[in-house]
Amino acid sequence: MRVVTTRDELTAARAELGTVGFVPTMGYLHDGHLSLVRAATSANDSVVVSIFVNPTQFGPGEDLDNYPRDLDRDLALLEAEGVDLVWTPAVEDVYPAGSSTRVSVGGVTDVLEGARRPGHFDGVATVCTILFGAVRPTRAYFGQKDAQQTVVIRRLVRDLALGLEVCVEPIRREPDGLAMSSRNTYLSPAERAVAPVLHRALVAAEESYAAGHRLASELLSAAHAVLATEPTAQVEYVSVADPDTLAELDDVDPARGALLSLAARLGRTRLIDNLVLPRS
Ligand code: PAJ
Repeated sequence: MRVVTTRDELTAARAELGTVGFVPTMGYLHDGHLSLVRAATSANDSVVVSIFVNPTQFGPGEDLDNYPRDLDRDLALLEAEGVDLVWTPAVEDVYPAGSSTRVSVGGVTDVLEGARRPGHFDGVATVCTILFGAVRPTRAYFGQKDAQQTVVIRRLVRDLALGLEVCVEPIRREPDGLAMSSRNTYLSPAERAVAPVLHRALVAAEESYAAGHRLASELLSAAHAVLATEPTAQVEYVSVADPDTLAELDDVDPARGALLSLAARLGRTRLIDNLVLPRS
């Protein structure tokens, strides 16, 4: 496994790799990240992983400075997966002095996470455009955990004709249902015990749908009833949205399905989760 830092080193190493499955990450890797690496391994000649805590996608007051980091552990995990190349750029390798271009995806970034985290998806779209341009992947792998991010990236790749395939892999969860996240490390033991309520709320909405309810208000009530059992979880939103446009729905058309998603704060930690009602 090669580990490189500068763009020139990356370009030279990439030239020898054939088809590339690329997994962009911010490090502090867990099984969710590694599931993307495994999917990339099975479909490409080579696998490239980037580890870069991207400053432009963090808002003021967010956790950029405290974001967890452990490069040695990350590299050992990637080595064990047989990854070919890891890119660990410094901020100036991604954003050279004087760089002033920002990429902004319209529409689908106005709602959900985009509405609560102004500028977040501009940062994500910008860094992914730069990473894709540098790595030149055949396929890029993203987790359904960040559902809106996958919609934004698909739109970005299509609108700018970036010429790569976007692959989305399922959410990996802890045994109690909590979606794996680097940010779970912030949770106190008491908060960690409460955190699975997010997933339980989504499952309650899914069960309501399975029982024949189609009104978004009915699915939302089922989710809110579960969330109310843990009053320390401060709910930011619960949403029933169209899976492609992310527009909020009044009722679910089974032919289109829906994205159930939510965000809640446990103490100072903000958690997100989602569940797809598949089209039938
Ligand atoms: P990061 O949060 O490190 O996540 C990297 C990738 O892992 C993302 O595609 C994310 O959706 C996926 N992932 C995280 N938790 C997961 C889980 N429990 N199951 C499956 N996949 C999971 O997302 C980012 O970094 C950044 O925004 C990035 C795309 C790297 C741009 O900076």
